Amino acid sequence: MFRNHPSLLLAPVVLAASLSTPVQAAEKLTYYCSAEPDWCDLMATSFEEATGIKVSMTRKSSGETLAQIKAESSNPKGDIWWGGTGDPHLQATEEGLAEEYISPMRGEQNDWAIRQAESGGNQTIGIYSGALGYGYNEEVLKANNLPEPACWKDLLKPEYKGHVQMANPNSSGTAYTTLATIVQLFGEDEGFEFMKGLHKNINQYTKSGSAPIKAAARGENTIGIVFMHDAVKQAASGFPIKVVAPCEGTGYEVGGMTIIKGGRNPESARKFYDWALTADVQSRSVEVKSFQVMSNKSAVPSPQAPDLASIKLIDYDFEKYGSSAERKRLLKKWDDEVSVLPQ
Ligand code: F6P
Repeated sequence: MFRNHPSLLLAPVVLAASLSTPVQAAEKLTYYCSAEPDWCDLMATSFEEATGIKVSMTRKSSGETLAQIKAESSNPKGDIWWGGTGDPHLQATEEGLAEEYISPMRGEQNDWAIRQAESGGNQTIGIYSGALGYGYNEEVLKANNLPEPACWKDLLKPEYKGHVQMANPNSSGTAYTTLATIVQLFGEDEGFEFMKGLHKNINQYTKSGSAPIKAAARGENTIGIVFMHDAVKQAASGFPIKVVAPCEGTGYEVGGMTIIKGGRNPESARKFYDWALTADVQSRSVEVKSFQVMSNKSAVPSPQAPDLASIKLIDYDFEKYGSSAERKRLLKKWDDEVSVLPQ
């Protein structure tokens, strides 16, 4: 009964054709991510679902990812770098590690995202924004009879010795933003004196920027210097975390996205880039409690997101502090003059 079915009669012809034409390789994307791991995963799986492109992902902090892209530059393995603070993305553009691209989605983005693209020669773009601050575990603070901190300078008080945690600015974009913020807020000399004083109270420099507030949420640390949205994430997850916008004012980040120069799958990289700039994709950030302000003007903001308009923000100089020379200089100075001091 099936012997004369037309599809069976066609089968040898189809097979012969498929053997004579080269098989189209499945589309792939090697994706470097520097945001929170759950957000990185959500982006990878939903891009795969939306396009059928197979994604292989590596999650590392901002400074670490820049170092990896640099180390691989003679034989690039990554296609796209999504997330992480904008300063190292800008450094990548300056060091010839990034590919120029103007997305058809650009017109839908906020001005601050486009400004980031323009200062990086259209080799990067802003994808989200968020203010720096700190958070503390209210229960641990109370149990240790500590006062509630409200300003940057409060963190220098001797009673907080061993109670403050931040990341290492070499690996973490959050911590580099902290260093650059303090220098811009207080001037370089006073800023470095501040970092030295803070060092006395630090219990650990972590690799990842959000680790200090995760440790505070678990009760293993008291105060974590982080982006405010990362502290809100812990509070929204039910932990007794209070979020602080420091009284002197504070810096902020413009998170970046960059196509890696010489990547093996440039077409997939551009597809990811366009897709990641859509309002629908950006609105999904709240599913993983990522409360940044997104770059697409139509992305739906979460009511839990810190209101940037109500926070005293400094006029963060992204061009200067994202420049290769300045970032290297500040990090070396921090390594030489702060991290080596006894605690
Ligand atoms: O996704 C959370 C986040 O704080 C981003 O806002 C930021 O760009 C990134 O992590 C920085 O991570 P790190 O400090 O580990 O480089």
